[in-house]
Amino acid sequence: MSATRPKVTPHTIRQRKGGDPIVAVTAYDAIMAHYADAAGIDIMLVGDSVGNTALGLESTVPVTLDIIAHHTAAVARTKPKAMIAADVPFAEAHFDFGDVLRSCQRLLQDAGADAVKIEGGETMAPTIARLVDAGVPVWGHTGLMPQQVKQLGRYKKYGLNAKETDQLVADAKALEDAGCFALLLELVKPEAARAVVQAVDVPVVGIGAGAECDGQILVFTDVLGLTPGYVPGFVEQFADTGRVWSDGLDAYARAVRERKFPSK
Ligand code: KIV
Repeated sequence: MSATRPKVTPHTIRQRKGGDPIVAVTAYDAIMAHYADAAGIDIMLVGDSVGNTALGLESTVPVTLDIIAHHTAAVARTKPKAMIAADVPFAEAHFDFGDVLRSCQRLLQDAGADAVKIEGGETMAPTIARLVDAGVPVWGHTGLMPQQVKQLGRYKKYGLNAKETDQLVADAKALEDAGCFALLLELVKPEAARAVVQAVDVPVVGIGAGAECDGQILVFTDVLGLTPGYVPGFVEQFADTGRVWSDGLDAYARAVRERKFPSK
């Protein structure tokens, strides 16, 4: 990928509706950011999935603002051309507006994010409208919202009937009206995802939401075969990097034990 490609911004993502599919992946550190940017990825999400993929936590719920800020700063130090979106973690977006704005200020000013991602539908729209008014670019996240897992009891697919589909469309329109530059739609039946994509003029980036979204996002370790545990059924693994890591580490261990490394 050319080093001269222009910086991807919330503004340029907003213009991608119905155009070339947007490619997004999570990234949690400078190594991931380096490889994702070299591949010409459009958006790197410093997602709260850092908790269950890289930090050994059981879900995204224990992930804090400090954790997201720490990982966002590592990604931002690589100065990628990709847009950096930072997740607003569990509960943070539900505090008084001043506190929510301060959280976003920290992610944009101190950590170096280009935008924030916030889980929520119609009920989150008024807060998002005020953030946008304050100059915060917001990527709305609806459909399955993993931060809700403790009250949902499990991760579930949405858009399974007309009522759920109508709610997804209403949520998407409210988020668009609030000023989100794009939406992320998670674990939604493809027919319902199509209804959402057609209902809004902002790009909809899907994960487990079928092929008709304006782009796709996956978790970095899932794409590269590095996730040691459960991988959702909608994921396609594009490389078996885990095997390469294992082989390399086995070879290193063997070389040390057999006194072949370091060489005389
Ligand atoms: O944190 C995350 O990884 C997400 C996914 C939906 C991409 O929000």
